[in-house]
Amino acid sequence: MLNIVLFGPPGAGKGTQSAQLVKHFGLTHLSTGDIFRFNMKEDTALGKLAKSYISKGQLVPDEVTIDMLQDAVNQSKSPNGFIFDGFPRTTVQAEALDRFLAKKDMKIDAMVALEVEKQELIDRLLERGKSSGRADDANQEVIEDRLDVYNQETAVVKEFYEKQDKFHAVDGLGTVEDITERLINCISSLN
Ligand code: AP5
Ligand code: MG
Repeated sequence: MLNIVLFGPPGAGKGTQSAQLVKHFGLTHLSTGDIFRFNMKEDTALGKLAKSYISKGQLVPDEVTIDMLQDAVNQSKSPNGFIFDGFPRTTVQAEALDRFLAKKDMKIDAMVALEVEKQELIDRLLERGKSSGRADDANQEVIEDRLDVYNQETAVVKEFYEKQDKFHAVDGLGTVEDITERLINCISSLN
């Protein structure tokens, strides 16, 4: 079993690369952002709550997000393991994930971080915003708010995995195919 946290700022390519890694390693992709967007589309109570944060570029509260992620893991039959995309985003979430997985006799094997500079992130998200319909891609202001939240609240999660010797950085610039190859090389060389 292989459990990977695919990390990086908004627009780094986590979703794009998760789709490639799922094919290569046979993992299950769990994106908290995708689950929130599904609930927003279905207009569930969770969706309504999430929307009030996501549309402003803020994080959904930890308790709600942790419960949702745990439910998603419990509902998935994934013998090969998971790619966690967009989770954990705070140290509280990272600690909760470790505790939750330990109870299931599972663990995170590595955090792999896609590194992309700020202007490229803004360009990618503005471009996607022309057609995505995502409230958080709608304008440069909310995109910059997301990047600020990442730097202030999420970037620190790297240290949590560094302390466990599980942090790996990968250059997230270039073609999708080149980046996939870098990720596969990185993940294949884990112990
Ligand atoms: P989430 O859905 O996780 O969004 P995000 O982290 O802001 O990142 P994106 O999905 O926008 O980018 P990505 O890294 O997946 O890149 P992608 O492959 O799409 O979260 C959304 C919101 O939900 C959060 O802001 C928060 O409010 C809430 N939330 C989610 N998880 C939470 C949590 N754990 N706790 C609390 N709140 C949470 O690529 C981006 C674009 O670039 C695409 O158009 C793509 O086609 C393009 N692209 C990809 N790769 C390349 C490349 N190599 N070259 C050029 N373009 C590329
Ligand atoms: Mg994504």
